[in-house]
Amino acid sequence: MTDEEIDPLLEKLDAAQKVRLLTGASTWRTHAEPAVALRPLTLSDGPAGVRGETWDERQTSLVLPSPTALAASWDERLLTDLGALLAAEARRKGVDVLLAPTLNLHRSPLGGRHFECFSEDPLLTGRTGAALIKGIQSGGVAATAKHFVANDAETDRLNVDVRMDEQTLHELYLAPFEAAVEAGVWAVMSAYNKVGGVTMSASPLLADPLKEEWGFEGPVVSDWGGLRTLLDTARSAQDLAMPGPDSPWAAGLLAALEQGLVSPGAVDDKVRRLLRLAGQVGALGAPGPVWRPVVAPGAQRALLRRAVTAGSVLLRNEGGLLPLDRAGLRSVAVIGPHATAVRIQGGGSAEVFPDAVVTPLAGIEAALEGAATVTYHPGLPPSDRPLPLALDHSRDPRTGEPGVLVRLLDADGEELHAEHRLSGRIVEPSVVLADAAAVEIRALFRPADGGVWTWAMGGWGSLSLTVDGRELLSGTFPLDSDDPTRVHVAPPLRSVRAELAAGEEVEVVARRSLDPGTGVATVLAAAPPAGDAASALARAVAAARAADVAVVVVGTTEESESEGHDRESLALPEGQDALVRAVARANPRTVVVVNAGGPVALPWHTRVPALLLTWFPGQEAGDGLADVLFGRAEPGGRLPTTWGAAQDDVPVLGTTPAPDVRLHYEEGPHIGYAAWLRSGASPAYWFGHGLGYTDWEYGTLTAPDTVRAGDAFDVRVRVRNTGRRRGREVVQVYVTRSGSAVERPALRLIGYAAVEADPGESVVAVVRVSGRALAHWSVARHGWDTEAGGFTLLSGRSAGDLPLTASLTAVPAHTPAGTGSGNGSDRDGERSPLML
Ligand code: BGC
Repeated sequence: MTDEEIDPLLEKLDAAQKVRLLTGASTWRTHAEPAVALRPLTLSDGPAGVRGETWDERQTSLVLPSPTALAASWDERLLTDLGALLAAEARRKGVDVLLAPTLNLHRSPLGGRHFECFSEDPLLTGRTGAALIKGIQSGGVAATAKHFVANDAETDRLNVDVRMDEQTLHELYLAPFEAAVEAGVWAVMSAYNKVGGVTMSASPLLADPLKEEWGFEGPVVSDWGGLRTLLDTARSAQDLAMPGPDSPWAAGLLAALEQGLVSPGAVDDKVRRLLRLAGQVGALGAPGPVWRPVVAPGAQRALLRRAVTAGSVLLRNEGGLLPLDRAGLRSVAVIGPHATAVRIQGGGSAEVFPDAVVTPLAGIEAALEGAATVTYHPGLPPSDRPLPLALDHSRDPRTGEPGVLVRLLDADGEELHAEHRLSGRIVEPSVVLADAAAVEIRALFRPADGGVWTWAMGGWGSLSLTVDGRELLSGTFPLDSDDPTRVHVAPPLRSVRAELAAGEEVEVVARRSLDPGTGVATVLAAAPPAGDAASALARAVAAARAADVAVVVVGTTEESESEGHDRESLALPEGQDALVRAVARANPRTVVVVNAGGPVALPWHTRVPALLLTWFPGQEAGDGLADVLFGRAEPGGRLPTTWGAAQDDVPVLGTTPAPDVRLHYEEGPHIGYAAWLRSGASPAYWFGHGLGYTDWEYGTLTAPDTVRAGDAFDVRVRVRNTGRRRGREVVQVYVTRSGSAVERPALRLIGYAAVEADPGESVVAVVRVSGRALAHWSVARHGWDTEAGGFTLLSGRSAGDLPLTASLTAVPAHTPAGTGSGNGSDRDGERSPLML
């Protein structure tokens, strides 16, 4: 909608009506305003699926691979298709605004939301995000670029004050958001953290560069509860406070406006942006353009399965162990707890509830049906980490159905509401009742094994847990975190122990009072008695030894990779490294599959013949994995982030230091592969690395001799498929400059293109390089600048494997067109103020 259309609407609203619109009406909705025919907008998480307005395991969603896996595809067409699928899901669930993508960077592998961000590289992050945004918005649903900016660490994220130099801020951390704005993103979310001492919901960066330099026209939405003060946020370019109905703006903005403390123009601009967004999603006036699903419902699961193979990264494949020849196999031993308890997504606000999950074991079994036998052994005793009650051993005492009974009680303990639920993790009951004083989860539990069970209850305030009539936990547990994820989604568990007899059903009751501010999330979880580790390992090793091939699936836990806190360690959970080593010793044909959203330490990686990274693969995990293992598809992924073998090798590791909540990005622009190059240490696998099922020979790199500063140009890379099957190669182009007067990363990715070729075929990858690629942020000029003189371009298959080079000279922007510019060079628009 144009300003000419919006301004008359603004005139219909008085100050109170305007201010009311600027805070949410509820957790996920904005206010309606009949005076301008505005209906509420519904917002929802998250990047790997669309949860919808409720946090309820009965409202299922399609689950995509984790954003790390999506970025690993380096495939913008696929990302746009997946964005369209997200839009279809959003429409199905009545969602107008999707709170995705997450465009923060992989600065440290310990970052708690690493799985939810794309890459350590700003260009790959920006291009991946832009492709997804275009897909989402093609379905008439707004994408939201988040969290603007520098929310690269999670610990103490509401208070952390990120400090970095101006050049690093622009070249690295702001760059993906600029790409999102260029792609036309309709909304941006400001981050919780501070940058340079100013909280992001009041930051001058919202005005400039976001709105002024880049021309962003939509609203800046706060992160949930991220708007915590009145005047500084109201005067800043922050536009919408979420959630509602309470916020500092709801409480005080009208008065501040009337007292002249905030200008009417500032409020009008915020409302104008909100109305513009409403117009874009069809929530203003007459319904918007008719939306047609871009991905037919019948094709959705196939697309998700393709996304698994496209993002899977084959790190190592000694002797061409993969793909496995299905016809030549008689037996496969599948090993590892993650083969059945696969982690399809990361934890936190991004979580959605899958309808059905294809586990790695199920995918392998289906692929080998009628061809080979499949055995399964976890190889480890059951985890002692209590997991929310699931459907297998618990039932609702009232209906007898698998699941649990959830009740809301009044102050006298009388039941106000009851519902049957499918999990012992209740983030919210399906109704909100003002007079509810307590929430209760009740289940009949039949233990498969006898012995000492660990029971756990999650929640804040007054809690009690009763097992078989014995009250094992009772007390008041005050909030010790103000992080919304901790309070409302994943409260800490408090454990007790109870001896149970195998097969004897007991009643378990977890109850918590609904104390103000403590949230309602309640968890009832259990872990079985400790098993015998030695015999579990021995069974797995024997199975591996007896099979033609062993497939070991290892991975992280929800505790280690989740929102709200950074990881403490890159190590796999206890016992998994030993399991991999033992299985690989028992069977030389061992394939290790890593099921983690971000890097894990791989102390054994050179000892295993095949190593495949599936990330968190989403709901089609097992079928996608089987496609890769048995060669129905090539593993398409290339690492979006460098993986070290050991935590101590990682050059940039620091996250929020406690108790000083300043986080200094001391490494400046040298993160990821640039940091590894600078440190001189060798990672296990470089950024960009990933094997397919054929081989490639890099032939020639052709680039213009000279390029005018600010001009885009093309680089041509000839590659030949020297293997025996058709394949896809991601050709990468980097730049470096020796003797630069400005601080530069040792290497910077400036473009990439994928090509496909048949065996023996030679093809040319045309890599478009933007006019910004040679530039740096000049602190003196507060703008982009390009050094004149020589640059070296390098091309190859990863930041650590760049066989081709070419020299190129940058000449001043005012050099007449044609002077010295080589092939493929043309102006890259008027937006970059490049000067020499
Ligand atoms: C997260 C956001 C999310 C929001 C709403 C916040 O805690 O940081 O990414 O969109 O919650 O769930």
